[in-house]
Amino acid sequence: MKTPYVPFATLLKSVLLLSSPALIVMAIYVLMGFMILSHAVYAYGIIFIASGLLIYPFVGNMSLLANYVHDLSQDKRVQAPDLRFIATVAELSDALKKLQTSWETKKKQMETIITEREILVDTLPDILVMVNDEGKIVRTNRAARAIFGQNLAQKHLREVIDNGYMLSSVEAVIRDLKGREVEFRIEEPVIRDFLAIIERFPVPSAGGITTVITMNDITELKSVEQMRADFVANASHEIRTPLASIKGFIETLQGPAKDDEPARTEFLGIMLEQANRMQQLINDLLSLSKIEMNAHSVPTDPVDLATVVRRELEHFKRPAMDKNMRLSAQIQDNLPNVKGEANELAQVVHNLVGNAIKYGYRDSEVTVTLKITTELPQDINMRNHTRVVMLSVRDQGEGIPKQHLPRLMERFFRVDSARTREVGGTGLGLAIVKGIITRHRGAITIDSTQGEGSVFTAFLPIYEA
Ligand SMILES: Nc1ncnc2c1ncn2[C@@H]1O[C@H](COP(=O)(O)OP(=O)(O)O)[C@@H](O)[C@H]1O
Ligand SMILES: [Mg+2]
Repeated sequence: MKTPYVPFATLLKSVLLLSSPALIVMAIYVLMGFMILSHAVYAYGIIFIASGLLIYPFVGNMSLLANYVHDLSQDKRVQAPDLRFIATVAELSDALKKLQTSWETKKKQMETIITEREILVDTLPDILVMVNDEGKIVRTNRAARAIFGQNLAQKHLREVIDNGYMLSSVEAVIRDLKGREVEFRIEEPVIRDFLAIIERFPVPSAGGITTVITMNDITELKSVEQMRADFVANASHEIRTPLASIKGFIETLQGPAKDDEPARTEFLGIMLEQANRMQQLINDLLSLSKIEMNAHSVPTDPVDLATVVRRELEHFKRPAMDKNMRLSAQIQDNLPNVKGEANELAQVVHNLVGNAIKYGYRDSEVTVTLKITTELPQDINMRNHTRVVMLSVRDQGEGIPKQHLPRLMERFFRVDSARTREVGGTGLGLAIVKGIITRHRGAITIDSTQGEGSVFTAFLPIYEA
């Protein structure tokens, strides 16, 4: 127990106050002659000392209590003093102790709530930026810092988000208190699209926050939207072209060339060619849509790729011969099955070999290689494998300029549109290949040297029984 520190002045005042009635009574007695002065002085002396002894512990305890309350108010973790000497003080001290305990519990609860809220705000996938009425950033969450940089606090919003429309929307919300939803784009460091919801609190928070901006990165959504629109436009265009040509020939055959036998034969030949092109296009579109529909179910049958490759190469004997090309296969013995769907994998071989023959030089060579490999490409689908089956198709042709490689597998992408249409491509072959390989959780790489040729290599997981 702490020794009570008794402030002398307080003690003196208390003793004087306590003994003052006796002092007054004795003064009256002395004045009225009931008591002689010296007796009164002695008596008062005794009363003074007795009052002092009586009040000393009380003042001491009270001053300890006062110190305790003072420390508590300063948010210090203190031990309550043990004050048992006087009943009232003891009660008071007990009550204070209870107050302290309940207060500490409440404080802990509040701290927990605050921490939980911080964690929640921080781990929210949405981007959160909170600003004050001057547009200065007060708080952000982790998602916001990941996109806009680490030191955001105290910066002005306009230093962080370079988009006039967005900034004026925030200003408008601050001004008229009406929440808004805006879509905006930033160009730096990379192009990104966001959907932002801006809300203003009626009263500022303790930190001065008045406006909360929640942002969603919709870059991907936007590009998918754009791709879908492009796709419909492209597909319509591709179908319209042969259709217009067929219609033109029908009109000619009905009119000017009605009785022209040689022209009829020629035109019907072209019409059949165009109809075939349309059919091919529609078949490709249907394949693509089927693959996309099933994109999330991984095919699991055991497929003997060697048989698939041999069968597909049979189909290309004629076209290869027409260009005087040597078509050969190098297939490793005892190749394990791959996990997949035979028809789709046949389509992969078909499209890759078809391209190699289409885009390869006359009198050149096309080689298909099938083997096990442990040299895996950088691809997330390859992360859990140490060995996979590799299917590569090599041609000797003009190759593909480097700058086109990233977009080569997009739907309807062609390096040279006019020329590929001549050789009868739909521009969907590689998109189908990519779709099938992705669905099989495999990987594909393209290696190409301009003027020499290209190698398309697919990597497929091995079937484990
Ligand atoms: N082996 C190859 N050599 C050179 N260019 C190729 C090869 N394979 C594909 N390409 C290019 O990629 C484009 C897209 O291929 P693909 O999707 O199969 O469409 P296409 O129907 O035109 O063959 C082709 O138009 C062509 O420009
Ligand atoms: Mg093709």
